[in-house]
Amino acid sequence: MSSSFPQQFWTGLRNWWREQAQENGAWNATSLLARNLWAFARESTPERRRQRYGDMEYDWEERVNTSSGTVGWRTRLLGSFHSPYQPTDPALFREMMSSLPIDFGEFTFVDIGSGKGRTLLLASEYPFRKIVGVELIAELHGAAEQNIRIYKSPTQRCTQIEAICADACEFVFPQTPLLLYFFNPLPKAGLRRVLRNLEQSMERSRLPVWVVYHNPAMDRLLEASPALLRTGGTEQYSVFTGKNL
Ligand SMILES: C[S@@+](CC[C@H](N)C(=O)[O-])C[C@H]1O[C@@H](n2cnc3c(N)ncnc32)[C@H](O)[C@@H]1O
Repeated sequence: MSSSFPQQFWTGLRNWWREQAQENGAWNATSLLARNLWAFARESTPERRRQRYGDMEYDWEERVNTSSGTVGWRTRLLGSFHSPYQPTDPALFREMMSSLPIDFGEFTFVDIGSGKGRTLLLASEYPFRKIVGVELIAELHGAAEQNIRIYKSPTQRCTQIEAICADACEFVFPQTPLLLYFFNPLPKAGLRRVLRNLEQSMERSRLPVWVVYHNPAMDRLLEASPALLRTGGTEQYSVFTGKNL
């Protein structure tokens, strides 16, 4: 995204408002906007900023920059209209991967809303054929590119990693077996669009698809998809497979 911050802000606000008002009515959209801005102000206190540094351990160990503590206020404000950046906990990521009965070497891993790219680095511990991250916000995407460049680990088994700065709603899914990863990636209307694109892509390719949905607040949308079947998970995540498997 190369537009200036004020442009990104007004575009984000306008699109967000339109979707919320359509979905829930203008009154509810206004009150949600007030709640989001209040949450942004609360998250800006020094106390909350210190708390966000609680996710730093992975960065210290791997000498990368994936923490939410170092995200600037502009990006956090934009996050109020999309979804705020928060990196995945490494132990949980590994638990989610170990729950999948797949041959990683056949699959492309795609993180929808990849932020600073922590999951792209974590996924590279598995021998995926390729790893792709799609992130809307330029500051986060830039950090992901830098992380991919500097990451060095003896446990790395995939080096084909691509970070793309784009709206995930427009993302064209690669025509290979796919493992998709969602962690609060986008609001309801956006998630619906991503699912519709996925369904059309699956219709064309008929290749295996798995979806790991971390913090599955909108599980129902995936359950309602004619292309996906829920096969497992816990309270923290859900696992879906393509019905064409
Ligand atoms: C909760 S964070 C997850 C980050 C990363 N997947 C991880 O697990 O470490 C959600 C990310 O989705 C991004 N996002 C929100 N809307 C998006 C969109 N329409 N297209 C691409 N990324 C988006 C946000 O900027 C944020 O970085």
